[in-house]
Amino acid sequence: MPAKKIIIDTDPGQDDAIAILLALGSPDEIELLGITTVAGNVPLKLTQKNACIICELAGRPETLVFAGCDRPLSRPLVTAEHVHGKTGLDGPTLPNPQMEIKKQHGVDFIIETLRTEPSGTVTLCPLGPLTNIATALEKAPDIINRIAEIVLMGGAYFEVGNITPTAEFNIYVDPEAADIVFKSGIKIVVMPLDVTHKVLVTRPRNDAFRKIGSSVGVATAEMTDFFERFDKDKYGTAGAPLHDPCVIAYLIKPELFGGRYINVMIEKTSDLTLGMTVADWWGVTNRPANATFINDVDAPAFFDLLTERLSRL
Ligand code: BDR
Ligand code: CA
Repeated sequence: MPAKKIIIDTDPGQDDAIAILLALGSPDEIELLGITTVAGNVPLKLTQKNACIICELAGRPETLVFAGCDRPLSRPLVTAEHVHGKTGLDGPTLPNPQMEIKKQHGVDFIIETLRTEPSGTVTLCPLGPLTNIATALEKAPDIINRIAEIVLMGGAYFEVGNITPTAEFNIYVDPEAADIVFKSGIKIVVMPLDVTHKVLVTRPRNDAFRKIGSSVGVATAEMTDFFERFDKDKYGTAGAPLHDPCVIAYLIKPELFGGRYINVMIEKTSDLTLGMTVADWWGVTNRPANATFINDVDAPAFFDLLTERLSRL
C-alpha cells in the first residue's frame, strides 16, 4: 500500500508533538505533506515555533510548516497553559529552531494541496481547534469532495468534558468551526476523550521512551513527565493521556481502534454546554450518521507501535 498523504493541523502541545514524531517515524505508511499550525493550547506564535522545534528534534527540518489562523472564527482565543505550560512544550529543554516557517498561509496551503493532489488522496489530521479546516472549507468549497477523510482529535461523550464539565478543549475553543466541519458531509473519524483517556503513559511506558536513548526518546519521556501532572491531579489517572497521537496511530493501524458510526452535532449557543459534542451513541434520534466516533483501543499495542516508531528517529 502506498503511504497515506496527510496534512497535520496542530497546536503543539506535548501530545501534538508526539503525534508529529509518530508520523515522521512512519514513512512507509505516512507521507507528511505539511504541517499547518493554529492557535489553541498556546497562541499561534508559539504553536508554529513548537512545530519547528519538533521537526528539528526528529531530524526533519525540511518538513513544510505553515502558520494558520491566530484566533477562532468568532470568539476570543482560550488557551491551555495550565496543561501544557507557558511555552506549550514545557518539559524538555530543546533548542530554538533554525528552520523557517513558509510564507504561505496555512489555510491556503491546505486548499492548494487539495486542489493539486489527485482527488480523494489527502487526509486531514486536525489535532487542535478546527479553525484552519473550517476556514479552508468556507473559502474553497470545491475541496470538500477532494478530501479523502478527516481524522481528528476532539470531543467526548462518556468522558463529557475536560475544559468545561461538558466540553473537550479543541471543540470548545472554536465550536463554530467544529460545527462547519461536522456538517460538511466529509468522511470523519473522531478520537474523543472516550478513547484518548485509555491511552495513558504509565511509568513503565515512560521508561520505555527514555530507554530508546536518543534525543527523541528522552524528550518524549520528559514531555510526558510534564504533561502527566495535570491529568494525574485532576483524574487520578496513571499518567499522561496521549490524545493527539491516536489520530496518527489510527492511520497506521486502524485495527487497534473500535467505535460507532453515529450522528455528532456541536452545541454552539448554550452558555452551560458550549462546545459539547452531542453524540447520538445510543441511536435515539433519526439524525443521520456523520462521523465514526471511537471509544476503544488496544493500548498496549498502541504503545508498542509508538515506542518502535520513535526509536526509528
Ligand atoms: C486536546 O486539547 C489539547 O490540550 C491537546 O493537545 C489535545 O489536542 C485534548 O482535549
Ligand atoms: Ca492538540
